[in-house]
Amino acid sequence: MSESLTLPAGPVGGWPELQPGWVWLCGAGPGDPGLLTLHAVNGLRQADVVIYDALVQEDVLSWAPQAEHIYAGKRGGKPSAKQRDISLRLVELAQEGKRVLRLKGGDPFVFGRGGEEAQTLIQHGVPVRIIPGISAGIGGLAYAGIPVTHRDVNQSVTFVTGHDQSGNTPGSLNWKAIAEGAQVLVIYMGMKHVAQIAGALLDAGRPADEPVAVVSQATTPDQKVLETTLGRMVEDIAGSGMEPPAILCIGRSVLMRQVLDWQGLAAGEAPRNLDPLGRGRPAEVS
Ligand SMILES: C[S@@+](CC[C@H](N)C(=O)[O-])C[C@H]1O[C@@H](n2cnc3c(N)ncnc32)[C@H](O)[C@@H]1O
Repeated sequence: MSESLTLPAGPVGGWPELQPGWVWLCGAGPGDPGLLTLHAVNGLRQADVVIYDALVQEDVLSWAPQAEHIYAGKRGGKPSAKQRDISLRLVELAQEGKRVLRLKGGDPFVFGRGGEEAQTLIQHGVPVRIIPGISAGIGGLAYAGIPVTHRDVNQSVTFVTGHDQSGNTPGSLNWKAIAEGAQVLVIYMGMKHVAQIAGALLDAGRPADEPVAVVSQATTPDQKVLETTLGRMVEDIAGSGMEPPAILCIGRSVLMRQVLDWQGLAAGEAPRNLDPLGRGRPAEVS
């Protein structure tokens, strides 16, 4: 990882300064360090403290060699840091006059509790800046060659979490309505409850042969992609040995991977199907 990465000239007025007593709540993207934003790198360069989560690739910390690095995630069976403790630690560090960069996987405001942390900070009078990141449900799928929207398939996309606050399948969700209304479904944290999720969608009338992709460790060197169907996904996931973190994508846009698996193409594979949606005409012809 290059520490000599230089930022371009930057926005009008120059790059923002991370001032003492501030917290920048920042997305790190799904894994590949190249998916951090320039604002994130600018923040890493200036921080006194970086507090990072489990899904943040630790090599991005080399952009902040001057900073203290505090791990605030769950890994290796260790008990997870409590959300309240993390939020209050951020307040404490800011009140000590530190320049604090809070680095979270993906986008901090997408299933990441970024809203809670920002609210706590603001309630305690700590100034914040929010730096969005590339969410796994968009960028991770793109690395697998799956566009979350594709004009021939969907005009909407539905993002769902497979956990609620108690760690159960979100009982508050109306799966029937989701099954009926969602053209393409992107499910975060769905691996633990995949059987219930698949069952609920099938019961609500989604077809068993509907295409599904599972992308684990997306955008990292360990990325794995499984293509299956709604009817087979439970046993195929079990047989694949795939583990979280993973994104489930349910819908016909998964078929586009047959032509858009750009990592496979870069490795010398041929496209499996140049017209996976069966349009019968070149893509540039509408
Ligand atoms: C607590 S949520 C955080 C989501 C994050 N804020 C985002 O915008 O991507 C964690 C879940 O995000 C998904 N996820 C995050 N990074 C991933 C990756 N590199 N590959 C696949 N899924 C990922 C998984 O579903 C994981 O269980």
